[in-house]
Amino acid sequence: VPKSDPARTTFHFQPPQNWMNDPNGPMYYNGLYHQFYQYNPQAAKWGNITWGHTVSRDLIHWDYLPLAIQPGPDWYDIQGCWSGSATIVPGKGPVVAYTGHSNASQQVQCLAYPANLSDAYLTTWVKDPGNPVLATPPPGVSSDNFRDPSEAWLGSDGVWRFVIGIANGSTGGAQVYKSTNWSTWTVGPRLASHNGTGMWECVDFFPVAANNATGLPLAVLAGDQTGLTYVLKSSLNDFRHDYYIMGTYDPQQDVFTPINTIQDIVTGFDFVYDYGRYYASKSFFDPVKQRRVLLGWALEADSQANDLARGWASVMAIPRTITVDPATRGTSLLVYPVEELAALRQSHVTLSNFTLASGDIVQMIGMAGSNLDLEYTFEKPVPAPEIVQLAMAQRNSSLTNENVCSPAGAERTGSVGPFGVSVLGAVGNQEYTSIYFEYVMGADGNWATNFCADYTHSSTLTTVDKQIDGGPVRVLETDTTLTLRIIVDMSIIESFAQGGRAAITTRVYPQVANDANSRVVVFNNGTAPVKLLQLDSYHIGSVKFNQLF
Ligand code: FRU
Repeated sequence: VPKSDPARTTFHFQPPQNWMNDPNGPMYYNGLYHQFYQYNPQAAKWGNITWGHTVSRDLIHWDYLPLAIQPGPDWYDIQGCWSGSATIVPGKGPVVAYTGHSNASQQVQCLAYPANLSDAYLTTWVKDPGNPVLATPPPGVSSDNFRDPSEAWLGSDGVWRFVIGIANGSTGGAQVYKSTNWSTWTVGPRLASHNGTGMWECVDFFPVAANNATGLPLAVLAGDQTGLTYVLKSSLNDFRHDYYIMGTYDPQQDVFTPINTIQDIVTGFDFVYDYGRYYASKSFFDPVKQRRVLLGWALEADSQANDLARGWASVMAIPRTITVDPATRGTSLLVYPVEELAALRQSHVTLSNFTLASGDIVQMIGMAGSNLDLEYTFEKPVPAPEIVQLAMAQRNSSLTNENVCSPAGAERTGSVGPFGVSVLGAVGNQEYTSIYFEYVMGADGNWATNFCADYTHSSTLTTVDKQIDGGPVRVLETDTTLTLRIIVDMSIIESFAQGGRAAITTRVYPQVANDANSRVVVFNNGTAPVKLLQLDSYHIGSVKFNQLF
């Protein structure tokens, strides 16, 4: 890692150089986790899209492998090998389905296989001679809105299925295709669709176990569906977030039915995985730890000129586990960094039972730096009558929309909060990024808790996107604490509230704050006092990513 590049991360996965976007075809096979990714081998901007390939034994230490799938020479993917998924087919091994960007700029679906299943790394991939296996989109869908095949599942009828993201006009959806032999695919029903959502990219569809933390493989789709819940995730191109909704699946009709009633009117989905710069994620079942793991792309927030000057663009977020939130009885998820990250923790510093009075800003000694893993447990504030009155008064101001964080950011004086943590702070305060909670009172007089990241002061660079991201986090009546986990790695901050009920990925480019001097500050800008029950701070060691061949 060149020390001259303060943005380059030290423990998040990145290719050695150039552009990366979506994670593709994640899987566990024969002792290794495989991650492919959309990659431009030639420049730090999107183009020439090729499948990069990396493997790991712990989802944290990754080794680079040679490029797996490259555009051309045939017509069907000569302009790029776009996103797709891997399926481990019994008796056959891994099969990758991806979207080819053809010579005529059409999106067609293709297959590829490992050249040699006895090569532990699955280094070399060959394309199916029958490519493209799907050359035309379904009726009503244009050939530029037909991409990103999902992992396939085998029905109890012996028929394979996968879904492909589509848009029919402004109606986005997930289109089922069926095959008995993997080479001929016929159009099936729409698993789901919603008007006004535009193109559904990188659709992910998988089962979850409602009553425990165990993940499930797609193979359960062939079995008894009683008691099973499914997650449908779509990366909405027009909204630039990964949306999900939970529901049931009818294996005869191939239709997904949402179980929730709180669907967002605009998108038809219930929640997002992450309020920040996190997109095109894809999950897979990890048979080693019986869990579902999610890989996601953390987009840059600086200008393309600066990406090019750095010579690289994009980072993968730390892999996250997906479990059903037991407190919400199968209606929402917890999305949280894999436990393996903890192995990189060093030099533990703690603090407990610390009260933050209104207006307090306290610098944490011994917790500085640009590579951190911070965990905070706050006592859930229970507003006193005068605070309720204050919130009632503020309700009529511009701060009453509980669906978004207050546009005034971390520095406004609220009733309860904003309170939280600033990281990557410059000694002279020219730069800092604040992650915090705020209570807001809705028009109905009920409180909502927002989880927010204010990065308007994150960098002295003027080229960088700086805004306030975030939204509501589910805080239940029975919850007694508000918890916060913040992972800092140079130019990325991943923040999680309530054990993964909400997440915000932030990209920041401090120029003044650096690893030797950047500060961590705990603040309470609300009127009500807040009690910090426990704080654990760790320095995170760096990871060396090696080129294997
Ligand atoms: C999502 C996406 C996919 C597409 C790929 C191309 O970021 O636009 O829909 O397959 O990237 O690189």
